[in-house]
Amino acid sequence: MEFIDLKEQYRRYKTETDDRIQRVLAHGHYIMGPEVAELEQALAGYVGVKHAITAASGTDSLEIALRTLNIGPGDEVITVPFTWISSAEVIGLVGARPVFVDIEAATYNINADLIESAITSRTKALLPVSLFGQMPDYDHINAIAAKHGIPVIEDGAQSFGATQRGRRSCGVTTIGSTSFFPAKPLGCYGDGGALFTNDDGLAEKMRAIRTHGGVKRHHHPFLGMNGRFDTLQAAVLLAKLPHFDREVNERIRIGARYSSLLKESCTVPVVSPANTHVYAQYTIRVPDRDKIAEQLKAAGIPTAVYYPKCLHEQPVFAGLGCKWGDFPESEKASREVLSIPMHPFLSEADQDKVIEALKRELVKPMRAEGVLV
Ligand SMILES: Cc1ncc(COP(=O)(O)O)c(C=O)c1O
Repeated sequence: MEFIDLKEQYRRYKTETDDRIQRVLAHGHYIMGPEVAELEQALAGYVGVKHAITAASGTDSLEIALRTLNIGPGDEVITVPFTWISSAEVIGLVGARPVFVDIEAATYNINADLIESAITSRTKALLPVSLFGQMPDYDHINAIAAKHGIPVIEDGAQSFGATQRGRRSCGVTTIGSTSFFPAKPLGCYGDGGALFTNDDGLAEKMRAIRTHGGVKRHHHPFLGMNGRFDTLQAAVLLAKLPHFDREVNERIRIGARYSSLLKESCTVPVVSPANTHVYAQYTIRVPDRDKIAEQLKAAGIPTAVYYPKCLHEQPVFAGLGCKWGDFPESEKASREVLSIPMHPFLSEADQDKVIEALKRELVKPMRAEGVLV
């Protein structure tokens, strides 16, 4: 059993993927070829915004967003400590300071009620993460940001395809950012990412910063980067995009089935009523997580821990002066979460194998303690 089955995905879409790749090999425009513009138009339409700008990764896209908003030394950006390193790494990379706000226990997303007390005169943006595939309450977050006159960047690396009140992830904040890392809900076959906005000026500047800060050939008003998305990867995504809605529906169906069959045995994902969840990770909470992961491995079931440590525990952020106990929900989650196999092609037989093995392992300690006979 695969944790995420990319080989099966390629097998299913082989004809159109090979055809799209062959066309790029034939025209030879490997950098910023026509597929990049075609994909950007399709992505903007999918998300429902005016502009989509592809980038070399979901990390570069976040950095481009921060640079575009002129965020740098002396500035603070609010994010969460329970996320992939990129969300805070980029804040440090532009010279600003990440300010962490704890998550909600139920959704693993930022606790919006704690944001205002973290805002100072130096706060230049909010950078919430739509973790595991569902969005935090952006109506609430956008209202706080508007009150303080600061922009919001959604780190939607894990939530592409998810919705909130009928609007798609990456389309509800000043700037949305996603990742096309192969294991993401919409993954290419290498690194990639994209930015989304309705603001013409921000879009123009993000395009420039992505390409060495240039607005036209040999004219560079901004400090930029080589953050372009490969034409070959754009071709892969163009082949996959027509199948994406079906994949998202399958993820939702499998996630709901997992939840209904596991909810008596462990803490299953809580989906906010305003949201759809795309389960980039299907993440449960279990006591004795590491032992259960080992037992599942012995039964041939792959699992993963996202994330075993919070960002304030990472040596690179030691200088921020945070300590254990500052973000209790993030800390607790990092010790209890376990992600189980999830992809659109996971057969019912494999789902049942995961469910049965989990139930078996979760019941064992209860028997040992005499809770069950
Ligand atoms: C929450 C989050 N932010 C940012 C990223 C960065 O994306 P990439 O790996 O494409 O640089 C990822 C992906 O790993 C992620 O999960």
